[in-house]
Amino acid sequence: MTRIISPSMLSADFGNLERDTQMIDRSAAEWVHIDVMDGVFVPNISFGFPVMKPIRKATEKVLDVHLMIVEPEKYVRRFVEAGADYVTFHYEATENIDLCIREIRDAGAKVGISIKPKTEVAVLKELLHKVDMVLIMSVEPGFGGQSFIEGSLDKISELKALRDELGLDFLIEVDGGISAKNAGELFAAGAEALVAGSAVFGAEDPEQEIVKMLEA
Ligand code: DX5
Ligand code: ZN
Repeated sequence: MTRIISPSMLSADFGNLERDTQMIDRSAAEWVHIDVMDGVFVPNISFGFPVMKPIRKATEKVLDVHLMIVEPEKYVRRFVEAGADYVTFHYEATENIDLCIREIRDAGAKVGISIKPKTEVAVLKELLHKVDMVLIMSVEPGFGGQSFIEGSLDKISELKALRDELGLDFLIEVDGGISAKNAGELFAAGAEALVAGSAVFGAEDPEQEIVKMLEA
């Protein structure tokens, strides 16, 4: 069974971005999660292209970029050029899903599509064969440190059942309110990749916390 932890840089110390990225690089986490927010799709602004550079320089790990921006098709190519391995955009953020998928693929990265807590899994049915990953948001996107929305567990099971039914092999990632306390049940429900911001960077020993999540 695949178990991937993707620590979210949103909770890192931006004054010590290199140090915090190197910590993940040494850790058992295989991915690094990068949350890009535009203040339009979500009521918060985080960071953009310039921050990709020091992160890419400080680690060889998979860069898992989560775009919470409108019209992602305009920018996905630049995120791939900046070093993204996975580019995930929101189903709710664009009228041009196919173009967005094509732009990410043509640029050479893997494609992720994400749904907010109130968006049903069923809307993705016709798109699932085109993507490498589906990201289920387990909090309203925009901020770290929120509580996990319990209904998200059913969405993971539903998506996993749909994946089996369709004979597909995209990864299932979950993001928001995740810690060693709920990681075990999320992996068991069918998630392969778990994002964690405050649980990792707020821990006394972040590297140990990542191991705890993997072994949960
Ligand atoms: C929220 C972001 C998350 C966030 C998770 O919009 O997509 O990746 O960093 O933070 P925690 O793990 O603290 O809920
Ligand atoms: Zn995220």
